[in-house]
Amino acid sequence: FLSAHASSDSFLKCLSGSVPSQLLFTQSSQSFASVLASSVRNPRFLTPGTVRPLCIVTATNASHVQAAVVCGRAHGVRLRVRSGGHDYEGLSYRAARADAPPFAVVDLARLRSVRVTRGSPATAWVDSGAQLGELYYAIGKVSDRLAFPGGLCPTVGVGGHFSGGGFGMLLRRHGLAADQVVDALLVDAQGRLLDRNAMGQDVFWAIRGGGGGGSFGIVLSWRVNLVAVPPKVTVFAVKKTVQEGAIDVVAKWQEVAPTLPDDLLVRVIAQGQDANFQALYLGSCDALLPVMRSRLPELGVDRTQCKEMTWLQSVPFIYLGSGATVEDILKRNLPGDNRFSKATSDYVRQAISRNVWADIFRTWLAKPNAGLMILEPYGGKIAGVSDSETPFPHRSGVLYNIQYMNFWGSAGEEAGRTGWVRDVLAFMAPHVSKNPRAAYVNYRDLDLGQNVVVGGGAGGNVTSFEAGRVWGEKYYKGNFRRLAMAKAQIDPSDYFRSEQSIPPIGNQL
Ligand code: FDA
Repeated sequence: FLSAHASSDSFLKCLSGSVPSQLLFTQSSQSFASVLASSVRNPRFLTPGTVRPLCIVTATNASHVQAAVVCGRAHGVRLRVRSGGHDYEGLSYRAARADAPPFAVVDLARLRSVRVTRGSPATAWVDSGAQLGELYYAIGKVSDRLAFPGGLCPTVGVGGHFSGGGFGMLLRRHGLAADQVVDALLVDAQGRLLDRNAMGQDVFWAIRGGGGGGSFGIVLSWRVNLVAVPPKVTVFAVKKTVQEGAIDVVAKWQEVAPTLPDDLLVRVIAQGQDANFQALYLGSCDALLPVMRSRLPELGVDRTQCKEMTWLQSVPFIYLGSGATVEDILKRNLPGDNRFSKATSDYVRQAISRNVWADIFRTWLAKPNAGLMILEPYGGKIAGVSDSETPFPHRSGVLYNIQYMNFWGSAGEEAGRTGWVRDVLAFMAPHVSKNPRAAYVNYRDLDLGQNVVVGGGAGGNVTSFEAGRVWGEKYYKGNFRRLAMAKAQIDPSDYFRSEQSIPPIGNQL
């Protein structure tokens, strides 16, 4: 590599032949800081000590992205790609290590169109820079019988979300966002623009869940199948405090929720001394109530708590609360989007005992620095697909996913708040999945491991597959090796690299 300064100058000169200057922001540009911050969701990675890009390319078409790759390769500048900027570790716009090689950010926020086509099945082309809320809104406006099974937060970017799998309230009926991808446009490490056929089946398999961390190239656009929903769905939100029996209900929920009818998902947010149960049912309140009464009567769901609405209306209702409108999901910033945060995850395959849940509520969630735990039940469609169908391997046998999160308001609280996440993760070890202890890549946690680069010298350097297994098998289990083989096919010199990118296998074994 050239020195950082030389790289920057020659890289920018090269780029200026193909990308209009108003789309390029160097560190000396007046608006560099605001463009960088535009989709940073975690102020932990917006401090003076953060390792920043040399420049940001705000691409408006494929040729800008291709030019960034070609110029980056030629002038020793690596690329990071940012769609919605929600990466929990900020890997789409910062490097974790101070000695990281120089890099630029390709920001896709201006590539955000959604084109829905009715038909059988109905489909949509969605650009990576679109937010989930924009995708859902475009679909819901075409038909109240169509939907898409992605995450809950409307400002999450399609690019990163699909790259890591993506799940939300429809997961039990329709599986992951990545399960619905039928085509994609990828700019590879040679700057070629490839569709599904041109990238080949191994790479197409890899980008649908194994692409987080920017490993195989830059996906510009995705073609997805849309899914059928009834014109009215039912939602409820019911809170139980520990005094009202939350511990017993959560303990029972663990075995009930993954075996409910596929049309029903009941998730739990455990925070403080409360367990908040949120549900989406693809049917009427009349049909839901007998199911809840027979399967989880302890929750005491009654008619006053059931609300019928369109699927599109359910999105803001569940994420933002009852006062929110469908237009709110089009906003670029929502309450809570800009908080200091730390998260990590676990998978549960055997129900955790009531005593442990009592400890979680009475000890861990009662601490002054405590965060929260989000429990997402699996089963249904997500479990009906084999572990090797896509890179996402957490399917059959998983009862639920746990996300541990903590938020805080100022830098001084960081040690205590992140400490809670790490301590509760250590406490949970005996009670969750083992060999490997599995985790969800979209809830990225660099504490699970980081890449090590080996080789060096004239032969180039590549990320170590063996070292990568430490974190990679937690996210991908046996699929990690196959991902590394796909990486070797499409990017053997390991140009697209980050702290948790897939290493190429083959040229180092
Ligand atoms: P960002 O742009 O930061 O990218 C994330 C990663 O993907 C980076 O490594 C980046 O380089 C890479 N990448 C991005 N665009 C790419 C592209 N076009 N081509 C190749 N690589 C690309 N998840 C979930 O499954 N269900 C949920 O309900 C939620 N809810 C949720 C709420 C909130 C508030 C947050 C912060 C996060 C979630 N998530 C989630 C997690 C979310 O799915 C995850 O953080 C996604 O990777 C975010 O995608 P973005 O495009 O926004 O991130």
